[in-house]
Amino acid sequence: MRLCRDACALLIVLVWSWTLPGAASAQASTIEQRVDDLLSRMTIEEKVGQLVQYTGFSESTAEAIREGRVGSLLNVVGAENTNRVQRLAVEESRLGIPLLFGLDVIHGYRTVFPIPLATASSWDPELVTSLEAIAAREARAAGVHWTFAPMIDIARDPRWGRIVEGAGEDPYLGAVMAAARVRGFQGDDVAAPNRILACLKHYVAYGAPVGGRDYNSVDMSERSLREIYLPPYKAGVDAGAATLMSAFNLLNGVPTTANAFTLNGILRGEWGFDGFIVSDWNSIGELIAHGYAADAKDAARLALEATIDMDMMGGIYAGQLADLVRANVVPEALLDESVRRVLRAKFSLGLFEHPYADSATEAAVLLREDHVAAAREAARRSMVLLKNDGGLLPLADDIGSIAVIGPLADSPVDLLGSWFAQGRAEDGVSVLAGIRSRAGSRAAVTYAPGSTITGPERDGFAEAVAIARRADVAIVVVGERGMETGEAASRTELELPGVQQDLIEAVYETGTPIVAVVMSGRPLTIPWLAEYVPAILQAWHPGIQGGNAVADLLWGDANPSGKLPVTFPRSVGQIPIYYSHDITGRPRAEENRFTSKYIDSPNTPLYPFGHGLSYTTFEYGDLVLSTDTVAPHGTIEVSATVTNTGGVAGVEIVQLYIRDPVASVVRPVKELEGFTRVSLDPGERQAVRFSLGPRELGFYNQDMQWVVEPGEFLVWIGWNSDEGLEGRFVVAGD
Ligand code: BGC
Repeated sequence: MRLCRDACALLIVLVWSWTLPGAASAQASTIEQRVDDLLSRMTIEEKVGQLVQYTGFSESTAEAIREGRVGSLLNVVGAENTNRVQRLAVEESRLGIPLLFGLDVIHGYRTVFPIPLATASSWDPELVTSLEAIAAREARAAGVHWTFAPMIDIARDPRWGRIVEGAGEDPYLGAVMAAARVRGFQGDDVAAPNRILACLKHYVAYGAPVGGRDYNSVDMSERSLREIYLPPYKAGVDAGAATLMSAFNLLNGVPTTANAFTLNGILRGEWGFDGFIVSDWNSIGELIAHGYAADAKDAARLALEATIDMDMMGGIYAGQLADLVRANVVPEALLDESVRRVLRAKFSLGLFEHPYADSATEAAVLLREDHVAAAREAARRSMVLLKNDGGLLPLADDIGSIAVIGPLADSPVDLLGSWFAQGRAEDGVSVLAGIRSRAGSRAAVTYAPGSTITGPERDGFAEAVAIARRADVAIVVVGERGMETGEAASRTELELPGVQQDLIEAVYETGTPIVAVVMSGRPLTIPWLAEYVPAILQAWHPGIQGGNAVADLLWGDANPSGKLPVTFPRSVGQIPIYYSHDITGRPRAEENRFTSKYIDSPNTPLYPFGHGLSYTTFEYGDLVLSTDTVAPHGTIEVSATVTNTGGVAGVEIVQLYIRDPVASVVRPVKELEGFTRVSLDPGERQAVRFSLGPRELGFYNQDMQWVVEPGEFLVWIGWNSDEGLEGRFVVAGD
């Protein structure tokens, strides 16, 4: 019930205070002095140079570096390479300002971990932090100071290939993962020799392009922006991210690389972000293509005014800024502010003291044994058991024969997914290799790819069918290529590519039980698998230890615990589909045609957000609320017990959802507001407890103020976004 909604609405003003401890503050003031000193000695060209970033290395770049006309390079890696180039800046340029080397270290540097969407499926922020710390250690040792990660764009449209790089559809989970990744890359002190700068990207709303087509325009309400797309950025800024990248897209008609509302207003103004902002690749130049800037001069001015500090590969700042400053079109003070932000980052990394990387350290840390072990553990925790009818999994230890089928079963390069930095296919353990090594001499393992991943040929079907017929179980590994995901990899069809669907149907006809292992960078539409295949393991693109992790899970050496961070649609036509939707005035009713539904499909997803099975069973009970009425500024505790009622130890990800059923702005049917991982032995029981306060219970009202409105609330503690124990409480009026 809504109680005196308008009169009683309570405006919650959240005040963030930030104090620097003594030592850090002394360090900060020293950095400020050094920045001031350096700036006072720089020519306009040298200042502009700090804002210029190029890719790779060439003779013309060498010349520009010596002349102080480059501040950063991307895609130059390795201690030896980076040192060689760094020497030009440090030893041969007038002021000796070191270069900043950046790279897309998205899910590991040389030790490639599961794709970010997969590690988000672990719902394990500590794990994610530890993986990024490893990525940072390897990258920094190889001379890389700065990763263009984390990508924290919420994505509710799996047609968009870059869904692979984020944490899925939900702002709460997205915010937790964003902060965890920033902490992992940067640690407490980026000057440490095993840390790198993080870069939140792509600011903002890049994950919601019209039609799911990469680089396309975004049109959305300020409410959706603030409630769904901004929370991961706010969390990343609060976690101390040093840098941020603007995006390619228009947002409501204004490019995000020159957007005064989102950049000057929200990011710098409301949040006080004082790190530096890099454009995306030529996104300053693309202001012209968008039809927003008349020419390169205009583009440079618009971007700088929007506080874009560094021009990635556009050449626009390099070509225009000095003239604009001299002509007084752009105040030199504005240029100085951007240069300050870049220099601060270089000082904070300790680059002036330690500009070079150490080859011996690089050799010692890449693919270190504990890094590889972490990749295996991460892959185990990232995979999601979607279905397991009749307890087909785990495989019995005495299973006699296994047919491994499918074009992805022995394709190490596809374990790496999109953006694999310095990852190499030869480091990867394919699913076939993992199964062979686990089966050892105990089970006969046969293998037939059956088809290619995308091609039309069916010549291999016969052999696949033949080996399936002779086996006790068929493990069919299907899905999409690593390179079919990521940037510029939007798809209009999300079925298994090529003839893989036909292949699995042919294997099914043999009557041999099938376990489908699906490797993909996004939810694929797999309704046939969901109906006919008894066991489905969503393995994502699982990184170099993917094959071993699949084997660990198939045999039950590890128990699956991943849960979906994104809804699985039945068909492309349902997209966008997400659990946290609004309710319509005409909710679906079977008997009434004129309700909100499809005439050819259920409204429900194939698998809901938060879904994931285990080899054990968990029973939820004893839902208790600390009060039935809470003040608008108060806090309520919600608890329940979870018991492992099955036969093996397991981890359950317990999820907390709320709903404000009547509000001055209609609220979604459910919103995730908490989760926790519980590890339980058979028979063991544990209480889980969550707190709900103004931050969780509130929303932006029609004036875009954060309010908690009095009235009844629903709360669930559950095992996915669809099922759980339900309670109710009331937020009292004042
Ligand atoms: C991508 C960014 C990436 C940059 C540098 C761009 O095309 O959108 O995410 O960081 O390239 O590789």
